[in-house]
Amino acid sequence: MGVEAKHSVPVLKDNVRLKPMQGYALAHGYHPSLIRMIHPSHAFFLSLCHGQMTSAEIAFLYGETFGLSPANARSQVLRLIEQNRMFLTEDDLPVRGARPDLHVKPRFEPKSFLYPGNDAVIASAMHGQWPVPAGINITLTFKCNFDCTYCYQDLRQKGDPRWDLTKCMEVVDEAADWGVVFLGLTGGEPTLFKGWLEVIEHGLSRGMIPTITSNGTVIGSDQRIAQRLAQAGMEEITISFDAPTAELHDAVTRSRGQFQRVLNAIHYLTDAGIKVIVKSVLTPKTQHGVETMIDLLVTLGVAEIGISYMETGAIHSGANSETNVTDEELAQVRQKVAKKRDDYAALCRIHPPKDTSRKWSEDDWYPCGGINMGMSIFPTGDVSVCDKMHGVKDFTYGNVFEAGLKAIWNGDAFAALRERTVAPALIDPECARCSKLYACRTSCFVDSFNATGSYYAKDPHCGGPFFA
Ligand SMILES: C[S@@+](CC[C@H](N)C(=O)[O-])C[C@H]1O[C@@H](n2cnc3c(N)ncnc32)[C@H](O)[C@@H]1O
Ligand code: SF4
Ligand code: SF4
Repeated sequence: MGVEAKHSVPVLKDNVRLKPMQGYALAHGYHPSLIRMIHPSHAFFLSLCHGQMTSAEIAFLYGETFGLSPANARSQVLRLIEQNRMFLTEDDLPVRGARPDLHVKPRFEPKSFLYPGNDAVIASAMHGQWPVPAGINITLTFKCNFDCTYCYQDLRQKGDPRWDLTKCMEVVDEAADWGVVFLGLTGGEPTLFKGWLEVIEHGLSRGMIPTITSNGTVIGSDQRIAQRLAQAGMEEITISFDAPTAELHDAVTRSRGQFQRVLNAIHYLTDAGIKVIVKSVLTPKTQHGVETMIDLLVTLGVAEIGISYMETGAIHSGANSETNVTDEELAQVRQKVAKKRDDYAALCRIHPPKDTSRKWSEDDWYPCGGINMGMSIFPTGDVSVCDKMHGVKDFTYGNVFEAGLKAIWNGDAFAALRERTVAPALIDPECARCSKLYACRTSCFVDSFNATGSYYAKDPHCGGPFFA
């Protein structure tokens, strides 16, 4: 069936944004895993997917703009719809314009994507080099008022006394000027950093998407914090929460009496209209409370719950000395959570922990991508590839007290590090033969180190090499 006969109307998903950059464009959702570098002409196409045009009409306009024959334009538009499935929904409408909720005006001005694309830059991103990182991740502080048994961070580390709100704002401003989209805030407990709310407000005012993960104790101490965040335009916040009772919460977080505050945080945030995502870490202690915890969180209006398998962490982190669940226990929890996921499908998105006994296959491949697309900045000013890698000399490629982000990203130290992650003599021989090497770069350096003693070993979860 041809495009005309179907009257299909491709619509850009509500949470997808388009951004013009030099020589390319960005299409992205609310999370760093949902960002792609695309040709400006593809962003032009996506900007036409505002719900008021059929794919045939889009093909006509696309063809006229880029001087294509009608047949060529139609096949290109069909190909673009296929390629951009993650950003689009598609309605098959007998009569166009029948949905009153569709946007009348384009959300993104098509003309702003009529500039030349640089194919070499776009191709280099496929090989693991983004001209501008998609996101920066700032560990605002190493301090924390909890001491979670499973924590992947080394909380005894110290920051530089010069690390304060002024310096942090300077970093955020440089990132925003440069075109960085995501501003991740973590810690330690990020809400213990003086000025954390201002950092979020500033990021939002500069058009960035701030994301924050918090243990909820500060947010739950005063309802006005959630209201202020909502007023600034914060759309979602991740709260860490692992236990359905006060006793278990105390035991896991090795703190006292904070359970109700975290529940308050969830309540205040949802009340203020902010989407709450709960991240929960599975441990031998928490595994038996997972179902009760999900029931409680769904009652509280949490929009999404992710139960994570306990990952390895920074060299001196608690996670590395903590006993993990067994494969059988993990399988049982996965089953229970999958059942809850189905029961609550209409109310909450629930993600069971990943099946660690299954290795990545070619079609089911989860490389980290952190080294290719992001920068992690610490309270010492050090810049590294991951928030678990503070103090790992090989992976520290700059310091924001000595140079700007752009100079660090484009500097010799980072170039040398990237070279090391693909150097056949240094990396696992299987990775050296793998077609995914440049995008993957042996993936999780921390998991590899904790499993083998080498940061450059093959990711322990990988079933490769792959030769596609
Ligand atoms: C290191 S914490 C820092 C932010 C904040 N203090 C909090 O707990 O939300 C960031 C996130 O990592 C999660 N996390 C910590 N250790 C982990 C581990 N070993 N495996 C998986 N996730 C972990 C926490 O639950 C939290 O959601
Ligand atoms: S997981 Fe977060 S709240 Fe828990 S100890 Fe680590 S930094 Fe603190
Ligand atoms: S073999 Fe190495 S490079 Fe290839 S996918 Fe696995 S971890 Fe990545």
